[in-house]
Amino acid sequence: MKKFSFFFNFVALTVSVALGAGLFVLSTRAWGDDRVELVSYDKEGALVRPEDYREWIFVGTPLTPNDMNDGKAPFPEFHHVYIHPKAYKKYSETGKFPDGTILVKELVSVGSKKAASGNGYFQGEFIGLEATVKDSKKFPKEPGNWAYFSFTTKDHKTLTPTAKAFPAASCNACHQGAAAEDWVFTQYYPVLRAAKLSAGQ
Ligand code: HEC
Repeated sequence: MKKFSFFFNFVALTVSVALGAGLFVLSTRAWGDDRVELVSYDKEGALVRPEDYREWIFVGTPLTPNDMNDGKAPFPEFHHVYIHPKAYKKYSETGKFPDGTILVKELVSVGSKKAASGNGYFQGEFIGLEATVKDSKKFPKEPGNWAYFSFTTKDHKTLTPTAKAFPAASCNACHQGAAAEDWVFTQYYPVLRAAKLSAGQ
């Protein structure tokens, strides 16, 4: 009898631990898209340029070289895309961009087309910085709650300290129509696709 009750207790304990773990996983999934506070705005509501984005998670490098776009690619030329690490962490847990997510794309010129390794596109100088922020409180009327910003200047040599959100037609509409996931072009970001897979999505 004693042996039996020991066995019974053992089974009951194992089942409740398993259930508890299951509930924990479910609850982190459910709360996983909780808001993250990652950016700040000035008094006029313009986004303050983030300083430390080169320490964020690097997700991919689309390239639209000018010489394949009649000399005037809308966003020349290499695009270094980064996501804030806190947003990345939530994304890799839930497979969803949490409210508050920011991604930036830093533009880099093509410096040379020849290297010791062969012909190609090699990076030159930093020439601009764009950003997108998902925020249901701040941008309740933007499609998907994503707003778009540019810190790029005409001479491509400096960046503005702040940027106002563009009207939806300038940026948001193209992202809405062509991006693979939640207004973000994950089809070009292998790091985010891998993170989504690891989240089991
Ligand atoms: C004609 C379509 C189009 C328009 C208009 C457009 N984008 Fe994009 N955007 C893209 C594509 C395609 C990518 C991914 C590939 C790349 O960078 O070339 C992208 C990527 C981005 C990214 C990286 C994160 C993401 O969402 O994938 C940011 C930031 C961004 N764009 C900002 C802007 C801003 C700011 C504007 C408006 C000034 C804008 N975009 C207008 C097509 C567009």
